[in-house]
Amino acid sequence: MLRANRKNGIIKFMETKINKIDRNQIDEELIQEAGVILKEGGLVAFPTETVYGLGANALDEEAAKKTYAAKGRPSDNPLIVHIADLEDLDEIVESVPQEAILLAQQFWPGPLTMIFQKSSIVPYGTTGGLETVAVRMPKDPIALKLILAAGGYVSAPSANTSGRPSPTDAKHVWNDLNGKIDMILDGGNVEIGLESTILDMTVTPPMILRPGAITEEMLEEVIGTVSVDKSIMGEDTNSPPKAPGMKYRHYAPKANLMIVEGDLKEQIFAIRQIAYERSREGKQVGIIATEETVGFYTKGIIKNIGSRENEKTIARNLYRVLREFDEEDVSEIYSELFAVSGIGSAIMNRLEKAAGHSRILAHDIVKKQRYRRIVFVSDSDTCRGPIAAQILKQKDLRQEYWIDSKGLVVLFSEPINQKAEAVMKSNQLSLEGYTSKPLVPKDLNPDTLILAMEQNQKDKMLSEYANQDGIYLENIYTLNEFVNDDLVLPDPYGQPLTAYGECYEKINILIDKLVTILNSFTEGEV
Ligand code: TXA
Ligand code: MG
Repeated sequence: MLRANRKNGIIKFMETKINKIDRNQIDEELIQEAGVILKEGGLVAFPTETVYGLGANALDEEAAKKTYAAKGRPSDNPLIVHIADLEDLDEIVESVPQEAILLAQQFWPGPLTMIFQKSSIVPYGTTGGLETVAVRMPKDPIALKLILAAGGYVSAPSANTSGRPSPTDAKHVWNDLNGKIDMILDGGNVEIGLESTILDMTVTPPMILRPGAITEEMLEEVIGTVSVDKSIMGEDTNSPPKAPGMKYRHYAPKANLMIVEGDLKEQIFAIRQIAYERSREGKQVGIIATEETVGFYTKGIIKNIGSRENEKTIARNLYRVLREFDEEDVSEIYSELFAVSGIGSAIMNRLEKAAGHSRILAHDIVKKQRYRRIVFVSDSDTCRGPIAAQILKQKDLRQEYWIDSKGLVVLFSEPINQKAEAVMKSNQLSLEGYTSKPLVPKDLNPDTLILAMEQNQKDKMLSEYANQDGIYLENIYTLNEFVNDDLVLPDPYGQPLTAYGECYEKINILIDKLVTILNSFTEGEV
C-alpha cells in the first residue's frame, strides 16, 4: 500500500483506489479489503445515507491525525464515531441515559448523532480533546458492513476538504481527497444529502447542536422537550456554537453567496433584477432556484435545486449545486429562501453557513419596480401592438420586463399582418411565427402596465371591466398619453405599405420616450 511520505522535500502522494460497490449486492471481499486498510490505520471514504464519510479506526490516535491532515481540518474539531451494533455503544461511553436508548431504538440506524461522556478507550485525538464523544449508527448497509469489518468503531467526518461542501457523491470525494486517502467506496449518490442531526445527551434537556433530517419535532415525540443551540441559525452571535465544527465557515462556495429574503414573489423579482443588471455589465450571476420558480429566470446561470413541495429533494441537491457553482464563471450566487420547518431548518442552516449569514432584502431592490409586465393592446393584435412590443424588446432597459401584446377582438389566433411584417423586415426585425392573443381579465393587475394604441381601446377596457371584482384599472393608458406626446397611431389596415412604414416610425418615437420614462423609475438601481 502506498502512503503519503516526504522524501528529499518532495511530497509523494499515495494512490487512491476507487471501487464501485452496489448496496443491494455488496461485494464482501471488497468490504474485507477496506476493513483491513482501516484496521491498519489507513483511510477509506464510504457512503452513508447522509453524506460520504472519511473512515478511520476511531480507537487509533494516529489514524485520527491522518484524518485531520487529509481534510486539512483543525484538530480541535471532533470526529463522530460510527458503530454498527447497539451493543458496541457501552464500550465507548461512560453511561447511556434511558432517553438515548429510546432514541436509538427509534432512529438508529439513521441520521442521528448523539453525544455522550466518553470512556477511556476513546482517544482524545478522536474527540478533539473533549471528554465527550459523538456516536452515530448510519443506515447505509455499505457503511454498516464496513464498520463491522473494521472492528466496530469507525470515526468519519464528512469526506470533503475542510471548508468545501460535504460530498454527496463519490466523485466529490475524489475531487477533494484523491492522493490523500487509501480508498473510496463508490456507492453512488447518497439519499439525504445533509449531515446527521447532532443531539447532545450530556445536558438536560438534550440539545440539538446541528439540525438534520431527524427534526426537533421527531425527537420530541420520543423523549419530550429538547432544546436547540441558539447559535446554529446565527441568532445568538455572542456565544460560539456548542459543536466545535459549526463555528467554521463550512460549506463555502468560491463565489459570494447571498440569500434573498422577502415573500417569494419579491425574491424572484429581486433576483431577476440583479441578474439582469449584471448581464448588462457583461457579467453572469449564479441563481439557486426551485422547480416552481426556475421558469421565471432568464439571465445568469440558473440551477434548479429541487421542489418546494418536496424539500427532501432540495436537501439532496444542495451540496452538489454549491459544488457545481465552483466550476462556473460566477462571482456572485443568489439563492431563494426556503421554509425552516422540518428538514427545511437543516437546509437553511447549511445555506446560511455557506452564505456566511449574508442576506439581502428583496424589497429594497424591487420597491422601485413600478411595473413588471408591459402589454400593448390593439384591436386584432396583428400589427401595431406586436410591433410596439417587438421594438421595446430591442431597447436598453434598466429592468427586465415581460413584454407582450394582446388584442381586444381576437376570436381566433392569427398571424402577423403581412405588410407589418414587411416593414419589420426592412428594419431588421421580424414577427414571423407570432400569432395574436386575446387580452384576458387577469392581464389587468397592479404589476402590468397596459398601453393601448388608441383612445377608443382604452375606453373599451375601462367600460368593459368596470365594476368587476379583482380587475385593476389604474394602469391603463394609451401609449401617447403615457409618454405625454400628441402623436396618434391610426390603424394602417387596408392602406398601402407606406402607411405601415409611417406607423412603424411613429411607434418607434413613442417607444424611445417610453424607455426614458421606464428607466427613470429604476435610476441608481442595485
Ligand atoms: O452525517 C454525518 O454526521 C456525517 C457522516 C459521514 O456520518 N459526518 C459528519 O461529520 O458530518 P463531521 O466531522 O463533518 O461533523 C461532525 C460534527 C462537527 O461539527 C463536530 O464539531 C461535532 O460533530 N462533534 C463531534 N463530536 C462532538 C462532541 N463531542 N461535542 C460536540 N460536537 C461534536
Ligand atoms: Mg463536515
